[in-house]
Order: sequence, then C-alpha cells, then structure tokens
Amino acid sequence: MRANSFLIYNRAMPEFHALVPAAGYGARMGHELPKQYLPLAGQPLIFHALNTLCASPEIATVFVVLAPDDALFHTYEWPHFGDKLQPLYCGGATRAESVANGLLASELEPDDWVLVHDAARPCLTQAHVARLIAELRDDEVGGILAVPVADTLKRADDQGRIARTEDRAGLWQAQTPQMFRAGLLAQALRQCGNVTDEASAIEALGLRPRLVLGESTNFKVTYPQDLLLAELLLGQKGK
Ligand code: CTP
Ligand code: MG
Repeated sequence: MRANSFLIYNRAMPEFHALVPAAGYGARMGHELPKQYLPLAGQPLIFHALNTLCASPEIATVFVVLAPDDALFHTYEWPHFGDKLQPLYCGGATRAESVANGLLASELEPDDWVLVHDAARPCLTQAHVARLIAELRDDEVGGILAVPVADTLKRADDQGRIARTEDRAGLWQAQTPQMFRAGLLAQALRQCGNVTDEASAIEALGLRPRLVLGESTNFKVTYPQDLLLAELLLGQKGK
C-alpha cells in the first residue's frame, strides 16, 4: 500500500475507525446478564459508548466485536447508527483475541487508524475522542487516553498488610480508546501473548505509545457499585 503513490493520493484523508470489544461476560459484575447489556440510564450499557463513537464525525465505521453465540445484540434497536455500526460475531476467549479477530474481520487497510474502546466505558465523550485523534493523527506510533495516578500506592504482602509505599511519580492509569494503525496493531497482537490492552502489545514490539491526558470520568464499569456512578455521570451529560 505504501509503495503505491496513486493509492496514497486517493487516501489523502486518513481514515479513522472504532473497534469495540464486547465479547466478555462480566464475571466481576456477578450478574446473569452479560455486563454490556445491563440497563444503564435507560439503555443497555454498551449503547452509550457506541452512541458517542457513532456520533463522532471523524470516525467512519464502528465495529463491535461480539461473542459468536451472542443472542442479545440483535434484539435491541440501534435506530440512528445506520450502516456506520458493524457487528462482527467473532469474539475470542480473551479481550486480546477478540480485538485480533475483529481486526481481521474488519478488513481495514494497514494504514487505517483504529480506536479500540471497551464497551464497558460508557462515559466516553466526544471531547475525549476528538482530543485523542487530534493529538495522535500525525504520530508515528499512536497512543492511548490515560490519567496520572492520583492516590498513594501501597504494595501488599501476603497477609494483606502494607509491605511498602510505591512511588507514584510517572505512573498513569491506561484507559481506552487506544489508537494505533490497524496493520501494526494486528501484527503486535499476533506476536504477543495475552495482554490486557493494545498498548502492551505495541510496547512488546519495542515501540513507545503516547500518553494522552484523559479524565477519570472515562472509567471502566467493572463492579456493581460502578453502575451508580456511571448513571450519575451520564445524567449530567449535556447539562
Ligand atoms: N472482552 C471481549 N472478549 C473477551 C473478554 C472481554 O471482547 N473474551 C471485552 C469486554 O466485553 C469489555 C472489554 O473487553 O467490553 C473490557 O473487558 P472487561 O471490563 O474485563 O470485561 P469482562 O471481561 O466482560 O469482565 P470480567 O473481566 O469481570 O469478566
Ligand atoms: Mg475481563
């Protein structure tokens, strides 16, 4: 692709796509309904991230990676998303596998940018997406939204007592979206084992993704108590 100047001319505007892994079960939520379908602010939880990504004018397609036996996604109506939303029933046993399978099924060009975003982060805003794209569109490697660690960090011993206090200087909490070229990310995920985010796979190639300052409001809904906070934040949107 890179060697063909005609194609590069035709793709002068970089393309951005989103890929939302949503093939997990939500074991830590402890509910019989998979986490991504739990009711949140009047919609299934996954709706909120899809809504923000589909409304982003810079994003061409929003791929959502579902478990092969997902029987719920199609039972909801996703009225105003139209063709921009593309479900892919190819989720794997781990998040990394789901993302790798989704990339393959999406048939993106190697140079396309892909923003991988957890279905379980419903409080993502247009401003977060716009900032990530603006800061990384000319970057060689890509990067992630993240926030500096605010709390004091304690290392536990095996009796649940504090072994020591860790230095938090320079530590950041990784969030999503994580934005990389589709070809590079697919290669990175093929080469590394099970990683918990895309940046780890890119780092394993010896590259150094950029940290783009996000907000703590873009947290991941993991435990039952997180639902209330997400509901409150979503209620503030647009006020
Ligand atoms: N995910 C996925 N495929 C998997 C596992 C996770 O697509 N095999 C997705 C989840 O659906 C979620 C995102 O990755 O949108 C982040 O994962 P996490 O919050 O850990 O969700 P779960 O794995 O479903 O939750 P838990 O770890 O509590 O089981
Ligand atoms: Mg998980």
